[in-house]
Amino acid sequence: MNETDRIYANTKAARGSFKFDKRVASVFEDMISRSVPGYRQILELLPTLTRRFEFANQNYYDLGCSLGAGLLAINQGLGKTPATLIGVDNSSAMITQAKHNLATISEQNLTLLEEDLLKVKIERAAMVLMNFTLQFIPLSERASLIGKIFSGMHAGGALILSEKITFDNEQTNSALTAIHHQFKADQGYSDLEIAQKRDAIENVLIPETLDAHTQRLKKAGFSVVTPWVQNLQFVSILAIK
Ligand SMILES: C[S@@+](CC[C@H](N)C(=O)[O-])C[C@H]1O[C@@H](n2cnc3c(N)ncnc32)[C@H](O)[C@@H]1O
Repeated sequence: MNETDRIYANTKAARGSFKFDKRVASVFEDMISRSVPGYRQILELLPTLTRRFEFANQNYYDLGCSLGAGLLAINQGLGKTPATLIGVDNSSAMITQAKHNLATISEQNLTLLEEDLLKVKIERAAMVLMNFTLQFIPLSERASLIGKIFSGMHAGGALILSEKITFDNEQTNSALTAIHHQFKADQGYSDLEIAQKRDAIENVLIPETLDAHTQRLKKAGFSVVTPWVQNLQFVSILAIK
């Protein structure tokens, strides 16, 4: 576990100012674990999912890999199966720390790219993980990105897409938002920290409904599209080609 997240305890956060910079990278593991209910659960089940979508000599992508937690879980699932792990993140602070965290994986099996994931070629993919990353991609780019992932995927391969979602029904949104704030308070965040983070991330993280994600994935061609984990408004979708 890295440093404790106190970023919004004192600093005044400007609306929409959230960035995956050095300061966020240094506390990220703590930040995401205490902010996203079910984050650990997804990582714990990833080795099992990986074994179900295991194809020798194929590529396993983590788009928006941050500190490499998803790649470590995929690597654990792969065991001795020969495969290439490809992590992509456009934050240099994240990639620098990911290199350190993933030092146990042989260099031959691992490629870490400090790059905009929209520019990365997807090929021979057995599995693509986007764990809470698509929500930071402009809405206008999302359909072509999902199409690119589908095209570069092995038949029978899977996209694991985790997202914060929103609901058409305002009462549902309010109820789940209130429970989520309670979750954060229970994790030790103050009311001020919760309010400042909410302001900082406004219009940076753009959530969509589960239906919008499902329709887009089906339109791209995925045959099975189903949530496999949901905690409050945090959902992980399994899409199989
Ligand atoms: C919420 S974090 C993802 C968490 C991570 N997948 C995990 O499971 O720990 C989102 C990540 O996506 C990265 N990101 C956002 N937009 C990106 C882009 N266009 N290209 C590459 N990485 C991007 C951010 O730098 C950040 O590290």
